[in-house]
Amino acid sequence: MAKTVSTTTLANMKKEGEKITMVTGYDYPFARLLDESGIDTILVGDSVGVVVAGYKDTLPVTVDEMIYHGRAVVCGTERALVIIDLPFMSYQVSIEDAKFQAGRIMKETGAGAVKLEGGVTMRETIKALVDIGIPVCGHIGLTPQAVNQLGGFKVQREKERLLEDARAVAEAGAFAVVIECVPTDIATEISQSLTIPTIGIGAGVGCDGQVLVLHDMLSLFDRFRPSFVKQYADLGQETKKALENYSREVKQGIFPGAEHSFK
Ligand code: KIV
Repeated sequence: MAKTVSTTTLANMKKEGEKITMVTGYDYPFARLLDESGIDTILVGDSVGVVVAGYKDTLPVTVDEMIYHGRAVVCGTERALVIIDLPFMSYQVSIEDAKFQAGRIMKETGAGAVKLEGGVTMRETIKALVDIGIPVCGHIGLTPQAVNQLGGFKVQREKERLLEDARAVAEAGAFAVVIECVPTDIATEISQSLTIPTIGIGAGVGCDGQVLVLHDMLSLFDRFRPSFVKQYADLGQETKKALENYSREVKQGIFPGAEHSFK
């Protein structure tokens, strides 16, 4: 296992055919668990707005919120590469905005890279960030910040547009690209045609790596669960059981016992 993961590590992993693992993380305790588990990259996704803050979608998330969560994740991480999402409207208005906000995120969190959504339309923005030394991960296919334009959270099937978006992101200098909700054959073709790693979510097994939202895979968020999510644990139920036990023991005078009390 590499000591610390950098964008170069990911490039080498693709060359060597080693799959890349990415999971989202939003706080210190889970960052430590993710890091200690050997996950290669932790994405502080703007999904924090939905699975942690309870917003309807990711659009209300602010740069300050991303910085707060990003800092906590960096504090809990020694090995993994931490990537932080640029939230909606922090980079779409102008390249100057993008530089300023991405710069703040890097400077105020200590993360290793940022991620932004969009393909061809983000070519110049990605290039501008990379030119000033900010590593960028792209994100194409279903881009949740454009949910209102896309008409909902739907599988993206326009092959030519997806190929063009992927090429644009890679040519602009992104070190990797997330591909979300794209049929397996298209995502595989994109992965084989790019020299940078692709990280799939709902994009099949042909991608160079995979990403899942932590709260989905651990069942800590039950408002909805996309069909591409595999449930690796049911921490929601486990947590509920523990809290019910605690509540019962307090009410019955069982807790605190002598071992949890002072003489
Ligand atoms: O915000 C997020 O968690 C993401 C992943 C779904 C890739 O962008």
